Amino acid sequence: MRRKFIAGNWKMNKTIEEAKELAEEIKTELNEIDKVDIALFPPFTALYPVYEVIKDSNIALGAQNMWYESKGAYTGETSPAFIVDIGCKYIIIGHSERRKYFNETDELINRKIKTALEWKLTPIVCLGETLEQREKGETQKVIEHQFNHGFMDLDSVQASRTTIAYEPIWAIGTGQTATPEIAEQIHKFIRGLVQKEYGSQTADNFQILYGGSVKPENIDGLIQELDIDGALVGGASLNPKSFIDIVKKTSGG
Ligand code: 13P
Repeated sequence: MRRKFIAGNWKMNKTIEEAKELAEEIKTELNEIDKVDIALFPPFTALYPVYEVIKDSNIALGAQNMWYESKGAYTGETSPAFIVDIGCKYIIIGHSERRKYFNETDELINRKIKTALEWKLTPIVCLGETLEQREKGETQKVIEHQFNHGFMDLDSVQASRTTIAYEPIWAIGTGQTATPEIAEQIHKFIRGLVQKEYGSQTADNFQILYGGSVKPENIDGLIQELDIDGALVGGASLNPKSFIDIVKKTSGG
């Protein structure tokens, strides 16, 4: 049985004080949840303060990005070693905002996934199509390309330590969530890709999250779908009540 997973991607929001306050509220309200994996992804500057808040709780920490080398002359970049050192368990790789604004390619994403796995981090690899690609009927082709290139040369042990987030770009920050049916269709397709490459056992245990305008009002429908194992929540994770509601609803209460 796959566990459900709700992750809050805070993107470039929250000062240290604001981040600590948000993490405190979330921790207090969710401390009895044991059926759902929960993780917070604050900005880099707030990672350690948030770690201090959640370190002995049921909530895990993750970072939003990293470099694929462990040290050296890479001004402005963050090593996986630092991310591990600061207490992170997860790392988001290949978010569409990084692909768009920072020109991240599937090849770079592949290198980052491999490095993250070497450092025993769990990568959450983001895949998703633009509105134009969807309207042209290219969604599956785009997802398959991102999957094949992102997961290039990974074996089934490595793949089984990885999570995918399907985040249709047209649904991110737009309020326009994919319907549960649309999301399920692509999640099922992604699980099929995992099965083709890595076999049924890996595919059956593989967590696939949905991301794109997830809120308390739409989580119920999404989470009921067979292949949707949770959500990567952006905007609604900045509001404690919304994020707490999403986790509680996912937990069945
Ligand atoms: P929103 O929930 O704000 O649409 O963002 C989704 C996302 O990009 C999570 O990584």
